Amino acid sequence: MMNPVRHSRDKKIDNSNKEKLCQHPHTSNGMNKLISDRPAPYRAVIAGCGSFVPEKLLTNDDLAKMVDTTDEWITSRTGIKVRHITNDRETTALLAIEAAKKALADAKLDPADLELIIVATITPEMVFPSTASFVQRSLRARKAWVFDLCAACSGFVYGLSIVQQFLESGRFKNALVIGAETLTKITDWTDRTSCILFGDGAGAVVLERHNTGRGILYSTMSSDGERWEALNCQAYGSRYPADKKLDDPKKIYMQIKGREVYQQAIRRIVEAVTECLHVCDLTMDDIKMMISHQMNGRIIESAARRLKLPDEKVFINIAEYGNTSAASVPIAFDGCVKQGKVKQGDIVIFVAFGAGLTWGANVIRL
Ligand code: UT7
Repeated sequence: MMNPVRHSRDKKIDNSNKEKLCQHPHTSNGMNKLISDRPAPYRAVIAGCGSFVPEKLLTNDDLAKMVDTTDEWITSRTGIKVRHITNDRETTALLAIEAAKKALADAKLDPADLELIIVATITPEMVFPSTASFVQRSLRARKAWVFDLCAACSGFVYGLSIVQQFLESGRFKNALVIGAETLTKITDWTDRTSCILFGDGAGAVVLERHNTGRGILYSTMSSDGERWEALNCQAYGSRYPADKKLDDPKKIYMQIKGREVYQQAIRRIVEAVTECLHVCDLTMDDIKMMISHQMNGRIIESAARRLKLPDEKVFINIAEYGNTSAASVPIAFDGCVKQGKVKQGDIVIFVAFGAGLTWGANVIRL
């Protein structure tokens, strides 16, 4: 087993969870760890998934006509070749609704029976009401409790962690978690350090409460508000309201300190995954796939190397989508499922890092 690592800022690992979390039969050495004779607890099981991206493509060559960059630079520094971008009529709610419909169809769940809808986004339909309200309306999911979650690129894994609590406690029977973003609407197309990175899209999963041993085994979530300046979009909120002239017109766009984010991201992904393995008493041999937020192919590869994860256990689809923030993990998961790279019973790790700063991971037995 890997050495236990201390969580950032000395958050202690709760070893009391260990026995409960490891009530599943599979281990790397084939031994049965099902040591408890208590009934299996409720878990949040992924019952269906789906994703949706706009048709319009923006290639690296297209970007090279807009800013001083090249296909070679973007490919070698990020792994991105192309991204999907919305037109003026395509909004975050539209993408979210399309992804949600696919996930619900996959789960064979009637929207009328949905109990909770969370939309993770930093590019919402409007300031208010929530993007989730538009999803509820479109799906006619009248019974559902709905809200948006603002945790940037970590929003989807944060959302799963919240749903995990409600389903494990027995409060809800099911939930829909969507990551949906239209980052290209807050992109500064004259800034070559950021405009090459982002794309639009949405991914969704339906979760249901079951006590079969499958489901979310563990989630870890962290934040560091001290580093908010590393990634932000400052207008228009209460600090820079729309009726006041901005001191810097660029504040309507995303601003990133790429190098700082790069280094923090690798460190935090490694920490989060290592914590997950330790608490769940798993080794890398037990993990079928790490599905990371797709922020930069080099970041994911570097984290995977430090975790000693072989290439075939790391899913990377950034070449086709760019960084879609909260949408990237569910889009990647949907791709992974559709390509047959994971199947029921496999253990996967979702991991993400983003503005806030925020980071987190979920260990899931599919
Ligand atoms: O999901 C969270 C959000 N994601 C992020 O915040 C991204 C995280 N960071 C990154 O992915 C990488 O830091 C970048 C891709 C943004 C930048 O890659 P890098 O290897 O860290 O490059 P750098 O910032 O150290 O810049 C190296 C050089 C600089 O030129 P000088 O100063 O060496 O002359 C940049 O001006 O590359 C230049 N550069 C570019 N050149 C061509 C920066 N952007 C570009 C570009 N094309 N698009």
